[in-house]
Amino acid sequence: MKDDIPKKKKTLGLFDLSILGIGAIIGTGILVLTGIVAAQDSGPAVTLSFLIAAVASGLIGLCYAELATSLPNSGSAFFYAWVSVGNFAAFLAGWTLIGVYITTTATVANGWTGYFSSFLGELNVKLPQSMLAAPSNGGIINLPAVLMVLLITFVLTRGTSQSKIVNNILVGVKLTIILLFIIISFRDINLANYRSFFPYGVSGVFGGASAVFFSFLGFDALATSAEDAKNVNKTLPRAILISLSLSTLLYIVVGLVMTGVVKYKYLNVSEAMSYVLLTKGHTFIAEIVSFGAILGIMAVVFAFIYAGSNIIKSMGRNQFLPSKLAQVNQATYSPNRAIWLVGGLAAILAGEFDLHYLALIANVGSLLVFLLISVIAIVMRKKSPELERPFKIPGGATIPTLSVLICLILLVNISVTAWMSYVIWIAIGLVIYMLYTKKYAQVFDK
Ligand code: ALA
Repeated sequence: MKDDIPKKKKTLGLFDLSILGIGAIIGTGILVLTGIVAAQDSGPAVTLSFLIAAVASGLIGLCYAELATSLPNSGSAFFYAWVSVGNFAAFLAGWTLIGVYITTTATVANGWTGYFSSFLGELNVKLPQSMLAAPSNGGIINLPAVLMVLLITFVLTRGTSQSKIVNNILVGVKLTIILLFIIISFRDINLANYRSFFPYGVSGVFGGASAVFFSFLGFDALATSAEDAKNVNKTLPRAILISLSLSTLLYIVVGLVMTGVVKYKYLNVSEAMSYVLLTKGHTFIAEIVSFGAILGIMAVVFAFIYAGSNIIKSMGRNQFLPSKLAQVNQATYSPNRAIWLVGGLAAILAGEFDLHYLALIANVGSLLVFLLISVIAIVMRKKSPELERPFKIPGGATIPTLSVLICLILLVNISVTAWMSYVIWIAIGLVIYMLYTKKYAQVFDK
């Protein structure tokens, strides 16, 4: 394998990786989607939807941990598919992941605008609606989302060790406001609001699980930091499990508190946390939460642009995409072209498309990659039993098989529209594959 990039110091320890994971995971999902999913899909049983999505993420996370430690490479699924299956599967996995990270960034930025404009509203600053929404929602462009994505893109081009400090601060803010919400709103729970816990039945709970699955995306992005991680064998699996467990705990408590304070059917708003606080007269806390959400959601954008650019870097390094995209800046070691490509495309999507639509595409792509990851974990055990596995999932093929099944169940619950958009992205990828990758991509050489 070609590896002509300047050697970079490994800068990320267990704490940094866990913070990166939490930074990527907790964001628009809990802050924006929870209320909407409770109102439209699951009712108070949104807590169970979170639990199902958490179990799915945990199983997939274990498969990731085994592959990321036995094959540490920033290309993540692209690299694992390249080693185990071949060039075409590797290209499809990498291309899908790039699409997932771009659409996730755009979704998150879109949701961010809700909190941003509501915060400005509390300060009596009103931006014109045409500058706040995509054309499908009656506007021209979601300008705050575009500018925020471009700002974070710029910060990332300064290199991971500097931008890590910014990220740690943003994650701290995010955790603080979620805890603040829980502590303040806990006292306002009215048990009567839990009556009719399953208003949409079991199918509602599973439909909700497919939607809130978005809230857990991000643990996979950690695998792309494998090359920047110190003592990767130990730190990476632990960071994946720590960040997933903490997020699950917070999501379940937030879901319970939200649906306990306000009847689920009134939660159909995008700034659900501040809305719940406002309904009980906690105006000042609601402002703090909005402000914290504005900062905290930025950490998710940060993590996903970083992850997307790492995939491009890895694909470019091996000529699956033009190698110029893999070049890193000599001073910051950041792949600036790849970073601008991911950030630029995400900014366009965030400005011009609707949140719900983008989230569904991100979910289809992610679940397909996760399905592949689980299959690869099984294939690698058969194909390369001698491979050193510093972290090995116990119980043979049981967990990867369960992971395949749960991905399939969640995929079946996603709408046809989202599937169609995914097909368009793959069609574009296939053109690139035929014109470029097939000619130039290297074959994996052990
Ligand atoms: N899990 C991330 C979020 O909820 C994508 O914002």
